[in-house]
Amino acid sequence: MFDQSKIHPLLKQAVVSRDGIRGIERPRNLMEAVPEDAEPLRSLAGMHIVSARQFDREKILQLGRLAASYETQPDLIHPPLRGKILVSAFYEPSTRTRLSFESAWHRLGGDIMSITDPNTTGIAKGESLSDVGEMFNNYGDVVVLRDNSEDSVYSMLDSLRIPIINAGNGIDEHPTQALADIYAIMKWNPAFGTGQLSEDEKLTIGVIGTPNRMRTVRSLLLLLSLFSDSIRKVYIVNPARNVLDDDQKQELEKAGLNLEVVHKFRDILPEMDVVYINSIAWVGDSYETLTGDIKLTSKSQLKPGAIILHPLARGEELDESLDGTEHNWYFSQARGAVFIRMALLTCLVHRINLVVDSPVDQPEDKNQ
Ligand code: CP
Repeated sequence: MFDQSKIHPLLKQAVVSRDGIRGIERPRNLMEAVPEDAEPLRSLAGMHIVSARQFDREKILQLGRLAASYETQPDLIHPPLRGKILVSAFYEPSTRTRLSFESAWHRLGGDIMSITDPNTTGIAKGESLSDVGEMFNNYGDVVVLRDNSEDSVYSMLDSLRIPIINAGNGIDEHPTQALADIYAIMKWNPAFGTGQLSEDEKLTIGVIGTPNRMRTVRSLLLLLSLFSDSIRKVYIVNPARNVLDDDQKQELEKAGLNLEVVHKFRDILPEMDVVYINSIAWVGDSYETLTGDIKLTSKSQLKPGAIILHPLARGEELDESLDGTEHNWYFSQARGAVFIRMALLTCLVHRINLVVDSPVDQPEDKNQ
């Protein structure tokens, strides 16, 4: 008999699942709240996805509904991406975005080619991104690109004849992260998406971050502006000045967001229904920490029932003491990213008719 005291305590207990993180009740509620309409999804077929500005509310609602349907029945009998190939090109570090895109594609039955170091490709020999894009046309059906330059995705667009998804371009945008953020909010409160919140129920959202330096925050604010009628106020919380560019502010306010930049959060934290926090921005080959010493812990004065979102990876700003609390929606947000990306990918490769109850006319995919 082995010495049982040498077995790590965590190996002696069964793996536990947590309601709300893995449960199907919330995605099912979202499906019930949003009637299926495949038409907005059809318009995504064959599109490049580079900016959150390319979405409208109907597309997001229907993507959320499809994501929820994938989340409630992950074992697909007829995976809709069979025969399709994803080129997953991550020229900058990533845990969630790369692996959730790849998980999404695998779950839909497709195959993947993954590049995690551009120096293993012709880029090391000075090959242009435009030429690399020309090659990708021959090898895959969709490209997902992350790069530390804002321009890279546009350089590849020049030559691509297959859709490309921007998985983070420098400090510019990260549109599918914002889709995952909104999907989490819609699962938590479907009426946010459908615009059925009464005046008293409208949400106060706190964004602890730097909108003009963080791609996640920039894209999130753009998508939140599509749901202005469900939002009482968005506080941008940052101890620094000049965190929101004038044109950014004007665009968001014109779209209907009621914005206020504040430098301290303790007094307003108890008002917030949704707290989004992120403290780092990847710039060049390293990262900047931008939100000073702001930190959320289980002792923070959070409103009962308030949810915390974080694109992750986290630093000291989000204490692990919150992980076991009702406020932890950041793990659910990361998990949901797989399903919302499954929904988007299905649309881009013209396979939406294989997964909806009400197919619509669209150009036939000859590879089906
Ligand atoms: N949210 C996000 O972009 O995480 P990764 O950097 O791990 O992809």
